[in-house]
Amino acid sequence: MSDAAASEAQVTVTIDGRTVRVPKGTLVVEAARQAGIHIPVFCYHPKLKPAGVCRMCLVKVEKMPKLVPACTTPVTDGMVVDTRDPEVQEVQKGILEFLLINHPLDCPVCDKGGECELQDMTFNYGPATSRLADAKVRRRKAVELGPFIVLDEERCILCRRCVRFDDEVATEAQLVIGERAVDSVVTTAGGQPYAHYFTGNAAELCPVGALTSAPYRFRARPWDVSPVASFCTLCPIHCPVRLDFRHGRLMRVVSQGAPEENTFGTRGLMAAYHTPSEDVPGARGMGWLCDRGRFNYQYVQSPQRVAQPLAGRGALKELAGWDEALQRLEQAIRRAVAEHGPGSVGIIGGGALLAEEAARLRRLAEAIGTPNRDHRVADQAVASLATPSGRSGRVADLDRADVIVLVGQPLVEQAPVLDLAVRRAGAEGRAAIFAVGPVRPRYRGRVRYVPAAGFDMAAALREIAQDVAAAVAGVKGARSFIVWDGRGAWDGSAAAVGETVLELAGALEHGGSEVHILVPGAQAQSRAAEAAGMLPGPGGLDTAGMLKLSAEGRMQVLYLVGVNLLETFPDRALVEAALSRTPFVAVQDLFVTETARAADLVLPAVPSIMRSGTLVDIDGQTHRLEAVLPPDGAGRPDGEILADLLRRLGADGHDRSMPPPSEAVAALSPAEARRIWGVANGPVMAHPAAALRVVPLVRLYGGGGTVEFDPVFRKHREPVAVWLNPADAERLGVRQGDEVEVRTAHGEIRAAARIEASICEGSLGVPVGAAGGSAWQLTALSNPYPAVLALEVRTPEVVG
Ligand code: SF4
Ligand code: SF4
Ligand code: FES
Repeated sequence: MSDAAASEAQVTVTIDGRTVRVPKGTLVVEAARQAGIHIPVFCYHPKLKPAGVCRMCLVKVEKMPKLVPACTTPVTDGMVVDTRDPEVQEVQKGILEFLLINHPLDCPVCDKGGECELQDMTFNYGPATSRLADAKVRRRKAVELGPFIVLDEERCILCRRCVRFDDEVATEAQLVIGERAVDSVVTTAGGQPYAHYFTGNAAELCPVGALTSAPYRFRARPWDVSPVASFCTLCPIHCPVRLDFRHGRLMRVVSQGAPEENTFGTRGLMAAYHTPSEDVPGARGMGWLCDRGRFNYQYVQSPQRVAQPLAGRGALKELAGWDEALQRLEQAIRRAVAEHGPGSVGIIGGGALLAEEAARLRRLAEAIGTPNRDHRVADQAVASLATPSGRSGRVADLDRADVIVLVGQPLVEQAPVLDLAVRRAGAEGRAAIFAVGPVRPRYRGRVRYVPAAGFDMAAALREIAQDVAAAVAGVKGARSFIVWDGRGAWDGSAAAVGETVLELAGALEHGGSEVHILVPGAQAQSRAAEAAGMLPGPGGLDTAGMLKLSAEGRMQVLYLVGVNLLETFPDRALVEAALSRTPFVAVQDLFVTETARAADLVLPAVPSIMRSGTLVDIDGQTHRLEAVLPPDGAGRPDGEILADLLRRLGADGHDRSMPPPSEAVAALSPAEARRIWGVANGPVMAHPAAALRVVPLVRLYGGGGTVEFDPVFRKHREPVAVWLNPADAERLGVRQGDEVEVRTAHGEIRAAARIEASICEGSLGVPVGAAGGSAWQLTALSNPYPAVLALEVRTPEVVG
């Protein structure tokens, strides 16, 4: 028998008299689960490596002299296990008694009360009475570990699930066990705040109420929330989530697969409200969520949501109702078409819309007769490069990759959970990682990083091409995975980088590797918008073209749907000019964003949990999103608003001409995709010769509606900063935290200096859409990586 066949071999085990056949190497705890027998666990978790620290799972195995932990013991053929032997029961009682010695009995007020494993285990396996006569040792309560996580030290049972997650999965190793023996406590390394993009998972994994989430703490009890299975709509991954509502209010977001896994499938309550689907436990990210997806939900119920249609540029006033609002837009469109032709109307949006809504937006452009339509509001060229190349990558392929090549802005800022898969592959030594971009990523394992931004990216990619090929050369059945951010739409660098990506893919294939390419969209629904055709029609203008025409005073109407161009478009001055020189600007959004403030008409939309339709995820797969709340206030779903407009313009509002979105995605033929790809082939701009160039940095918590208008996130939104490599900082005499003023040919910004070894030398990184400023204040369409003309350290004035 070959090794592979041997490892596939099945063995027979008897557990509590039941016989089960499982693959050789299966842990006793898992074999028992398959036999329908529950072994109590605390430290074990199917998504973490076994640790064997809590001893709750001890079982009796025939011919073994002592009890063994079921979570670290693999089964062998013919093994006979007893999980209910009196000796086992005695140990279980003892462990629970031990855990409860200092555990506070604050279950009635503990956030986890009702879904706590210690509570359940004590009920099922624990001692009936307490023998404790002495007072409990009290530890600190409500320790704020980081922005989202609170620790009640006295509830911790030291199972280390959180610490192991942070090390094994997040690979951040921020959480550690401090002190020793009875003083052991979960804390952060060096006392730093617990702050990375995945901290909520640690709280979700905690079997007791030691780690809780700050936004949810004391807001609801597990038995009075109504859970609904859904999808996160904040990035192109679209992780499966469970939304918990209380009296119609969204109280928390948890990972859809987690309740079952955390409680190890034993709790009827959880089992009842866990809706299994093919999406769970998630080829996409193994069921983890990022903190944005988990905690950025309070915007849904924000009192700042637009409650009524508004009109009046700068000094917005409530309109009587929808009829008046839509009449104004209809009249503006009709007037523009009659007096200046259909091309004087521009429609921008779709990247935040469900597939049907995006299709309806395209239909609206067609009904008006304007080819000027685009969904691209950042500098992303395409979201589906993979399609024309025939090498569409799927997230699941990443787990089998031998080589991973990452090109562009840090993956974690755009598709966080995808980055977790890369981290895991690196940490487990499964793949060699190559990264080309402006910021050095922090992966473990075999990593080669080449600093490069914009114009330099294609050259840097060529520089590593041979090493990438060498990394898979000797591997039988090798697999390569390339992730490119697709940015560089307006400066033309996307075309050069994209071509190099395809060249590299070709060379790898030639060398015998199976190649997958993935381009995460810049917006959550970029792929849906592409499939729906929200790209310029024949002879039409893209977003940049429309804005230029507007800035010249030659566009009559701009209709912006779910778009905050002042935050997202890489040329703020151009957007300002365009908005001020267009006679009629309509914005359809959830909030009065900066862009909406400059509009003539604001139409209140509703969040995705109040809309039904189709999501297209990063893999190109479609998912049905169901509205779980009715539209509130005067807000209306985008699809309804668009249908109404279509009717008013005399077009069919029901889009019978539109194929269902799943067909539209499938019909995105290589030829069509090539056409999309062709859009990116703009003129390549000149490389600016400069000692220091501005490099925009995409940030997960960057500007735009849902972060800016979320009470929880607004507090943690990073202030604008100027990132400098230590070598540049030293040369320029800038120290950490200095207030600096930076000027380019296009604008200036004042911000604190952040000395970052991860930013490439010669680059001055400025986050996009941070609080108090954005990289786009310094850049222009004609010059996306401008030279820094002046950088001055501002000495604070001494008062008095
Ligand atoms: S905080 Fe929770 S997950 Fe972490 S060690 Fe304590 S009990 Fe375990
Ligand atoms: S990775 Fe994306 S889809 Fe998943 S939780 Fe985070 S923001 Fe939502
Ligand atoms: S679950 Fe086995 S030792 Fe903790």
